[in-house]
Amino acid sequence: MTTLIVNIKELLQVRENSILKVSGVEMAVLPTIKNAFLLLTDDIIIDFGSMDDLPKITVDTTIDAAGKMVLPSWCDSHTHIVYAGNREQEFVDRINGMTYEEIANRGGGILNSAKKLNETSEEDLYNQSKERLEEIMLLGTGAVEIKSGYGLTVEGELKMLRVIQQLSKNYPITIKATFLGAHAFPTVFKENKKGYLDLIINEMLPEIAKNKLADFVDAFCETGYFSVEETEQIMEAGIRFGLKPKIHVNQFNSIGGIQAGVKFNALSVDHLEIMNPEDIEVLKGTETMPVALPSCSYFLSIPYTPAREMISAGLPLALATDFNPGSTPSGNMNLVVATACIKMKMTPEEAINAATINGAYAMGISQTHGSITKGKKANLIITKPIPSYYQLPYAFGSNLIDSVILNGKVLN
Ligand code: NIG
Ligand code: FE
Repeated sequence: MTTLIVNIKELLQVRENSILKVSGVEMAVLPTIKNAFLLLTDDIIIDFGSMDDLPKITVDTTIDAAGKMVLPSWCDSHTHIVYAGNREQEFVDRINGMTYEEIANRGGGILNSAKKLNETSEEDLYNQSKERLEEIMLLGTGAVEIKSGYGLTVEGELKMLRVIQQLSKNYPITIKATFLGAHAFPTVFKENKKGYLDLIINEMLPEIAKNKLADFVDAFCETGYFSVEETEQIMEAGIRFGLKPKIHVNQFNSIGGIQAGVKFNALSVDHLEIMNPEDIEVLKGTETMPVALPSCSYFLSIPYTPAREMISAGLPLALATDFNPGSTPSGNMNLVVATACIKMKMTPEEAINAATINGAYAMGISQTHGSITKGKKANLIITKPIPSYYQLPYAFGSNLIDSVILNGKVLN
């Protein structure tokens, strides 16, 4: 099936030659074509250019995008979409003065979600999760990474990963799965941390690898969660089972997680709310993508990732939602892009690069996603008529999406 989109006011993130990521000053450049056409065959981008050069061809469907922008779908490289129930009560407790840490210390937080998840059937978990997936697809996300980490038992973790696999089979959005057994120590292992690490390494990982249930391995490297040494053990074991690391670091404290990630050639290091000069320095010249999660900073009222310092240091930066029940109950990449501009002082060009090509890199899919390039996946956002792409962050909170194309088909 061929689809031709014509009269596009501005086609964004056009990359003639495939690039894998953009870093430093390159992030300020967003290549575009004004008054453009875009041609798709099945789920692939076949051609694009100025309307002046529109080829004379017969197609199955023509879409008129007069006044509208077209851009590659958002690539959300960090989420925890598969979870059971919600943590509304903890939200209200925080409004009333408790901290995220105090709530976790009384058995709330991740352990609260783990309890709920283990009491929920696989079918129910699938049904709750698919609603969130459908919501983010309509918000323009065309590729998403989803983590386990609310099971914290062999059966619970496998259940989450099977749900992710099932979602991936049933929906046109591209999904990557991450095993996050090392999200928190379950209460029964509170005094026996080695016991839980053994369970992850000797029981969970072999089963996950055997059933090809994950692409990546993650750990929450943080005071009160997994130490740098424990995180290194998890990364080392994950790599042995073919899983590249993508890790949670520097959310509340800078304890050496970034250095550990770089040492194990992690695909990404995520959160980065608390960054020392050494944390920035060690990322220079590496293959590891730093990922900021500004809607988590917003929801928890914690610092924002110092994007300006990192970009000035020549680093790349990706943006993701962190959609989860505790620290970010929102999967809206449009809000993430706006928040990055408003609170982190990223320019619209930098934020769009961070939420497309760099997000794709942080999922290992920038060969096929994250830009308008011939041969790449036809996952696209068509905006409503807007004056310029500055509207995307400027009109924060407005839904500016007219339609979404996934695998070459308009989503209904
Ligand atoms: O990325 N920081 C660790 N994990 C999640 C939050 C987990 C939760 O509160 O349920 C995060 O913010
Ligand atoms: Fe997270």
